[in-house]
Amino acid sequence: MDDLPDWFGPAVAEDYDRDDDVRFTAEHLALESAFLADLAGERGCALEFAVGTGRIALPLRERGVEVHGIDLSEAMVARLRSKTPDVPVVVGDFTSTRVQGVFDLVYLVFNTIGNVTSQNAQVATFVNAARHLRAGGRFVVETQVPGVARVAPGERFGVFRHDTRGVGYDEFDRVTQQMWSHHVALGEGGRGERRSVPFRYAWPAELDLMARLAGMHLQQRWAWWDRAAFTDTSTSHVSVWARPD
Ligand SMILES: C[S@@+](CC[C@H](N)C(=O)[O-])C[C@H]1O[C@@H](n2cnc3c(N)ncnc32)[C@H](O)[C@@H]1O
Repeated sequence: MDDLPDWFGPAVAEDYDRDDDVRFTAEHLALESAFLADLAGERGCALEFAVGTGRIALPLRERGVEVHGIDLSEAMVARLRSKTPDVPVVVGDFTSTRVQGVFDLVYLVFNTIGNVTSQNAQVATFVNAARHLRAGGRFVVETQVPGVARVAPGERFGVFRHDTRGVGYDEFDRVTQQMWSHHVALGEGGRGERRSVPFRYAWPAELDLMARLAGMHLQQRWAWWDRAAFTDTSTSHVSVWARPD
């Protein structure tokens, strides 16, 4: 674990819950937690890979699901623990950490599969999810459809944000499927500070193959938590793989 960089240190953890992403709104949290609770089932038990500060673990728990978590970042976990003692968390790497128990649902959301920057480690994530699931249990991933599809051939950069508070752009290497998300937060006088986080992007079909390698099969794929149809213009997907009964 020591050799994995922690991109979510104290400074990021402190501001994390103040993000202006739609995923932090009450309306969205109701939608996402209802989707997950539905899969966990009544009095179900769920394990969140990369639980962070509990953004979605807490609303899911409020729906009666017992939620456990794994996260690499001591700072993110400290914030979660300051909110509640009721979500047991193991500090560790979700590609390999084993938590006590068997779960109805394992989930990994908010593009975090991409934080795993090698194909081997992404496959290991699926294997680790499968071994925490009961027969018939489900693994959910919510992530982007690779934004490289919206970047002209030969170009490396795609801007996803440009406003008075900041600039955000992704950089893609089509050969290695590596991607860097660059965020420039603009402060006083328009001066900026850049934070760049590495990702590995993978197409939905590659994730399906990882699930197959882990003994699971695709059960549902939606464009978003509202169960909008996944189409050729979707920019994200919520995918559900199941362990055989
Ligand atoms: C974007 S945050 C998402 C947090 C939470 N799931 C949410 O939806 O708000 C990404 C989280 O993934 C964690 N993370 C990234 N790679 C990890 C790994 N290999 N093992 C465990 N946690 C990891 C980070 O520490 C961070 O808390």
